[in-house]
Amino acid sequence: MRVLVTGGTAFLSRAVAETALARGHQVVCLTRGASGPPPPGTTHVRADWSLADPGPPPDGTFDAVIDVARRPARHVRLLAERMRDRVGHWTFVSSCLVYRDRSTPGATTDAELVEPDEAGPFPQAKRASEQTVARLFGPRALIVRPGLVVGRGDRSDRFGYWPARLARGGTVLAPGGPDDLVQWIDVADLAEWLVECAERRRSGAFDAVGTPVGFGAVLDGMAAALSTRCDVVWVPQDFLLAAGVTPWSGPRSLPLWVRRPEEAGLLSRDPRPASQAGLRSRPLAETVRACLDWERSLGPARERKAGLDPATERAVLDGWSRQGG
Ligand SMILES: NC(=O)c1ccc[n+]([C@@H]2O[C@H](COP(=O)([O-])OP(=O)(O)OC[C@H]3O[C@@H](n4cnc5c(N)ncnc54)[C@H](OP(=O)(O)O)[C@@H]3O)[C@@H](O)[C@H]2O)c1
Repeated sequence: MRVLVTGGTAFLSRAVAETALARGHQVVCLTRGASGPPPPGTTHVRADWSLADPGPPPDGTFDAVIDVARRPARHVRLLAERMRDRVGHWTFVSSCLVYRDRSTPGATTDAELVEPDEAGPFPQAKRASEQTVARLFGPRALIVRPGLVVGRGDRSDRFGYWPARLARGGTVLAPGGPDDLVQWIDVADLAEWLVECAERRRSGAFDAVGTPVGFGAVLDGMAAALSTRCDVVWVPQDFLLAAGVTPWSGPRSLPLWVRRPEEAGLLSRDPRPASQAGLRSRPLAETVRACLDWERSLGPARERKAGLDPATERAVLDGWSRQGG
């Protein structure tokens, strides 16, 4: 196939470009190149979506476009409109944030969606792009809504916090309780599936998520994969919030933690439809090792976008223990 990937220089889009290449396809990467060069063997076409007009789309016909990179919905539409008659199949990578309800575990793609708004916030803009792609490509359109994407190349500092933290050993602060469900998809598994779906011209909408697992089992599995021993102390949500620790992401946060009950469904969507459509999830140990290698390549002493620094973690644990925790 001749495949166009939007992006190709970072994280998911790079993994998609590498996977498509490895599966024998001709790959064109549409990107600025600001995050580095696209994978060797691909063709690089430059575009900058921060401009009002990103420039002409790539020439020629494409069997598939895998539209991965996050960008303004107007630009998603421009590219799709300009290439409509030259593309066999269009995959649009959206997000599970397009669902209105974030509180119900086990929800499916039947759940109510946010109102589309091309110029609106991230979920509304993603929804508008989904509609554009569905309108223009109909049965040739695939909408993929990932949950949390993790692995090599992730610059969000979220999931990688946990392998890096466990690898340091000692007493580990964990949020909420061990039975709280969490869910992720490895970037390499998602990339493989996206390319496979394009090859098969799969259509419809899928949540690209792995099987929900208890947070405690995840930390145990990570520690086993890293052959490290830690004492995990579970601290309740209310205490953490009062101590100024935030869920999910940010400078003083604990990743994989979502506010419950309001967001209890965010990391526990139904994985079965995507799994039945061929999305595989590698063992946690493989993901953990890839994440730790990536964390180490970024430098463990860097300022993180997510997670707690050791002094803050210690102070929160001391506060909890003074309360009798
Ligand atoms: N990460 C997650 O957990 C998660 C969860 C749900 C959904 N998603 C969705 O998954 C998709 C991939 O996310 P991601 O985090 O892997 O990658 P991303 O940040 O959306 O995209 C990275 C790519 O976009 C290109 N890019 C960025 N700004 C550009 C610009 N102004 N002009 C042209 N190209 C530009 C970059 O290339 P250059 O910088 O080299 O130009 C890079 O190749 C997104 O659609 C995102 O919404 C992600």
